[in-house]
Amino acid sequence: MNSLQTLKYVFFSMTCLAAIAVIAVLMSEKIDNTKGTEHLSIFTDEVTTCYEDQPIRDDKGNISGNTNIPIIYFVTPTYPRREQIPELTRLGQTLMHVKDLHWIVADDNRECNPSLVKLLRKFGIPLTVMASPMAKRFWSDEKMKIPRGVANRRAALAWIRNNVKSGVLYFGDDDNTFDLELFDQIRYTKKVSMLPVGLIGDFGVSSPVVKKGKVIGFFDSWSADREFPIDMAGFAVSVEFLNKSPEATMPYKVGYEEDMFLKSLGLHVEDIEPVAENCTKILVWHTQTIQKPVANLRLKYEQSGTSLDKLLNELYTYGIASRNYEKGVKTYYTSGRIRTGV
Ligand code: UGA
Ligand code: MN
Repeated sequence: MNSLQTLKYVFFSMTCLAAIAVIAVLMSEKIDNTKGTEHLSIFTDEVTTCYEDQPIRDDKGNISGNTNIPIIYFVTPTYPRREQIPELTRLGQTLMHVKDLHWIVADDNRECNPSLVKLLRKFGIPLTVMASPMAKRFWSDEKMKIPRGVANRRAALAWIRNNVKSGVLYFGDDDNTFDLELFDQIRYTKKVSMLPVGLIGDFGVSSPVVKKGKVIGFFDSWSADREFPIDMAGFAVSVEFLNKSPEATMPYKVGYEEDMFLKSLGLHVEDIEPVAENCTKILVWHTQTIQKPVANLRLKYEQSGTSLDKLLNELYTYGIASRNYEKGVKTYYTSGRIRTGV
């Protein structure tokens, strides 16, 4: 090898090493999001209160309803997409049947959405609405890599800690299906109650396993290395128990949100209260809605002079459709065989 060749060789090796070093630094930054302790920090989230009902307080300063039964704080993370309004309509109309419930809706959004607040107020349920966006560093193109609903639930935890001393916390996603019996089952939770969730994973269900009234294990097709392999909808926590652990939080770690939150509460398997007839009844279902992109409507005129003008405006404010005058799906209405452009 002559000296020029050696020099070329050295230069090439150095370039390769530098590239490897850059890739390693970039990857370690990515990995830090999930493996470091940053995902446990409780102080970094950005939250705005969009709407809050004047809560009824009892003489101890606790928010209370008209009766002495414990209030359920039903926490719903939600995020803007085409299906958001219909999902929340269905959920709101379930919750209208439940007494002594306070609905905390936390939207994964930088700004408050007035049409969302308007819709939620319509149900007449004691309500708090927040905008609690997920920090950019946790965004990903792949849905399964996003810690979904975590920023929202953490915002709700902070609200509960600041506002209430008693009651029961339950995380109810916007797309799940809830049997009204669920609420009677979790209402008297002392520390943490648990119950089966239908339509989860390869077993079709995720549930604690109970023997002689005690939880002895978990039936869940993705147990991984989790101590509490349970879905978010499969447990409720008493506010008193939550408030005993001011540091307890939900991690930004996909798949481990439930387990690490329950561990951070200092929960032991012996403490779990099995409900839903000793975990033999399914009172909550992990239903999922098919998601479709926004309909991009190609319009001919700004005004059609028909009911469609107002109707389509509603779709735009809900994020269900967008309007365009050059491209998109051509719009028209029919009467008999006649098609009229809109
Ligand atoms: C499953 C579990 O049932 C969830 O309780 C859990 O949070 C989630 O996995 C997870 O661990 O990541 P899955 O149906 O796969 O839920 O997820 P989604 O329903 O899409 O999201 C869960 C909740 O977070 C929903 O209420 C959704 O509205 C909300 N979300 C989702 C956001 O706030 N932001 C997002 O970007 C996506
Ligand atoms: Mn879901």
